[in-house]
Formats: sequence, structure tokens, C-alpha cells
Amino acid sequence: EKGGHDYFMLKEIAEQPQAVADTLLGRVGPDGLLTLDEVRLSEQELRDVTKIIVVACGTSYHAGLIAKYAIEHWAGLPCEVELASEFRYRDPILTRDTLVVVISQSGETMDTLMAVRHAREQRSRVLAVCNVNGSTISRESDAVLYTHAGPEVAVASTKAFLTQLVACYLMALYFAQVRGTMSGDEISEIIDRLAETPAKVSEVLATVEPVRALARSLAGERCVLFLGRHVGFPVALEGALKLKELAYMHAEGFAAGELKHGPIALIDEGLPVVVVVPSPSGRRVLHDKIVSNIQEIRARGARTVVIAEEGDSAVEPYADTLIRVPAVPTLLQPLVATVPLQVFACELATAKGHDVDQPRNLAKSVTVE
Ligand code: M6R
Repeated sequence: EKGGHDYFMLKEIAEQPQAVADTLLGRVGPDGLLTLDEVRLSEQELRDVTKIIVVACGTSYHAGLIAKYAIEHWAGLPCEVELASEFRYRDPILTRDTLVVVISQSGETMDTLMAVRHAREQRSRVLAVCNVNGSTISRESDAVLYTHAGPEVAVASTKAFLTQLVACYLMALYFAQVRGTMSGDEISEIIDRLAETPAKVSEVLATVEPVRALARSLAGERCVLFLGRHVGFPVALEGALKLKELAYMHAEGFAAGELKHGPIALIDEGLPVVVVVPSPSGRRVLHDKIVSNIQEIRARGARTVVIAEEGDSAVEPYADTLIRVPAVPTLLQPLVATVPLQVFACELATAKGHDVDQPRNLAKSVTVE
């Protein structure tokens, strides 16, 4: 049942190219237009939306943080992202024109379900991005976009995360199509690039052996930091969460731009710091700023593990370990950059002798608040 793998998590990591392809399947019509049939909101209802609030927990929340960049950039809609457990207990300003997007693999997470109920009581519409068909959240929401990742058994979310990202990209492009913020050609171009991502994820998986070796060499460390910028910031948070839950290590993700506002004080001789570098062909300034961050932390003794696009030579002098990922458009980079971090956490936890499918104190779906 584990398909020859020692753990479900390894099987699910390996299934990611197929899972991403499955999420894309059947969602583009012959005319090149997106057809998200299950999104049972009329085009007029979508045009009336003035604000999106994305609500989720854990890894799904990280997918939401990435979705924000896509929704704002492509669909031109203001977007907030909030942890379900926080959203529910403040007084969010919700109107009929607010679309609440909830993201949940299981569709059973109690905090997220309570957020759905709260939003609907305030007459907001709720669109759920879910993996499990017929789950409570998918039934109670106004509309569902299924991720089609297939069953995810390991407690640590991997393929569900990548497919949530794809579903969110499709959703953002669909809003852009309906609202006319992008041309058909622009949308098709991105869909084409999305269609290439399963092969790129396969490429990453074929070249992760050095990541495994690195993970084993760091098994004795007490703490690992993760830095990112733009969509690389949620990727850093996700890398840190994986390491916490699987390896029981202290791990923190930071926005690289925040370093000088505090976290740089943590940098000590030999501290491993994983840095997710944005593509140099995207917004150059983002790339260059992070390269100087890497220089700064290395000068203070950090052991730098740099995740950078193929051909990005600017990072080479400052990387103690360099992990290459294929070039993809900036907004899609999390699809490739997250994979080495999943492998890293899984291997490090295994090296420490932990059961990666059933980490201590955790359940696959958290059905209590
Ligand atoms: O089923 P959900 O997506 O609603 O679950 C949310 C979180 O509990 C979940 O992502 C959790 O953080 C994972 N164990 C992370 O790997």
C-alpha cells in the first residue's frame, strides 16, 4: 500500500507530479478558457466580489499566503489571509461582497469549519478548496474547488499542499478571466507554464539526493532557520513547519527583509539557515536583496543552504550548500521550491529515528478547536 516506499510520506512526495497534473486536468476548455464548473458562483457574483479573505490552518494556511500573491497580482482583488483559529474570534468585517476562501485538505478541520459557519452567518459567500470529496467543509460551503490529490495518509501534508497551490492559481486566474483583469492570451500563457510544472517537480525529485545527504549531516543540530521573500516567505514557513512536526526540531521561517529587525541576532557560528531565493529573471530587486541577506548571515557564521534557480550564479559564492530548482515564473516557484524542503524534513526525521507518518502528538485531521 506504500507502493514500495518505507513511509506514506515518501510515497506522497513521489506522487506530486501526478497529483499536480490531476489538479489541472479538465479545467481548461478547448477554447483555452478556464472552466471551474464546481465553483457554483455565477460570473456576476464573482464580479461583485470586492475582497477575498483566505482562511485555513497549518500547511493549508501557507498555501493561502501564496494564493494572496496570485489573487492580487492576477485578479486585482484585495486579499487577506488569516489563521482560522484567529479569524473566528475577532470581528472580521464581512459583507455580501466578501468572498471567504477556506483551504483544507481533510475538509474536517474544526477551526476552519467554524470559520465557514461564521462567514456564512455574516452572509458572506464561502468557496472551499478541499481534497476530500464530500467532507463537512465542502458540504457546508457555497462552492468547492477540489484539489484531486488522492488520499493523503501521512500526517505531514505534501501533495495536498502542492495541489492546493495549483487550485489557488486556477482560482486566481479564473477570477482574472471573469473580471477581465487579464487577456485570454495572458491567462493561456500561465496555464501553459502550469502544465509544465509536473515535469519540473519530477526534475526536482530526481535530483534530491544531495538534499538527503545534507539532512543526515544536520541531524544533530538543535535549530534550523528558513528565510524567504515574496512567495518564498510562505515556502520558508512551510519548510520550518515540516521540520518541527517531523524532526521535533526548533525551526523558524522568517521574511528575509525582517532579518535586520530582529532575527539576525539569532545567527551564530554554524547555525544552518535555509534561504529560498527568488528567480533572478523575476523582480531583480527581490533577488538581489536576498543575495545580500545571504552574504550578511554568512559573514556572521551561518551555514547557508541556498535554494536557487538553475543558472543563478550570483548565489554561488555564498552558498555552503546549493540546491538547484528548475526555472518557473516567480509566482509558481513554490511548486518547485517546497519539494526539497519536504524531502529535507522527512530525511532528517528518519535519520533521528522518528516515524514520519505518525509524528508524536499530532493527528491527520484536527477535529477539535
Ligand atoms: O486538513 P487541513 O488542511 O484543514 O489541515 C490543516 C492542518 O492541520 C495541516 O495542514 C497540518 O498543519 C499538517 N500536519 C501540516 O503538515
